Amino acid sequence: MTDTSTKDEGTELESDRPGDALRPGKPTMLSHVAYVTRDTAATVDFYTRILGMELVNAILDDAIPSTGEAVPYFHSFFRMADGSTVAFFEAPELPPMGPPPHPAYDTFQHLAMQVDSRQTVDRWRKWLQANEIDVLGPVDHKIIYSIYFHDPNGVRLEITTPLSPRWNDDEVGARASLGEWEAAKERARAAGLDPVTVLTELARERSRRRSS
Ligand SMILES: [Fe+2]
Repeated sequence: MTDTSTKDEGTELESDRPGDALRPGKPTMLSHVAYVTRDTAATVDFYTRILGMELVNAILDDAIPSTGEAVPYFHSFFRMADGSTVAFFEAPELPPMGPPPHPAYDTFQHLAMQVDSRQTVDRWRKWLQANEIDVLGPVDHKIIYSIYFHDPNGVRLEITTPLSPRWNDDEVGARASLGEWEAAKERARAAGLDPVTVLTELARERSRRRSS
């Protein structure tokens, strides 16, 4: 009885989902990604003088248009070669952000900017170091080649170039990996095991497979 009603609900949800034909395509490019800064002048100096981007817009307002929250701010935009932008908000009343609950948050969350070749990545490394910016790498990920550094706000940045045309064009492989990941979670759930342990084992096994 319970099984049937659950199934019915599932079927109903399934049929209520709008068809793909209604989806208006896919987004065309990065418009902007936005971060918080505590020093717009230092941010302008970094993104224009160090990264060579242009300061292309600045908006001062006393409330956030989307939510109406009364937070005065200075909103700045820096443009990359393809027109995509990096944006910042400096809001004097905001307290500093606390540290993340795990240091890996600061590693995983980052902004990667693409350049045309491995040589250009290496030139960026030299340029950043000449400006006394700490650089990690280059790291050869096999599919991309990257260096890592931080802006004055602590935002982790990456300059990278593709090494393989498949780096962003392997949906079959990605779907297969997702299948393995979700199956491992389900196995853990069914067996009453800690999902972290089971997923860690899967990640180790995949790492071994890749390097063998
Ligand atoms: Fe990255």
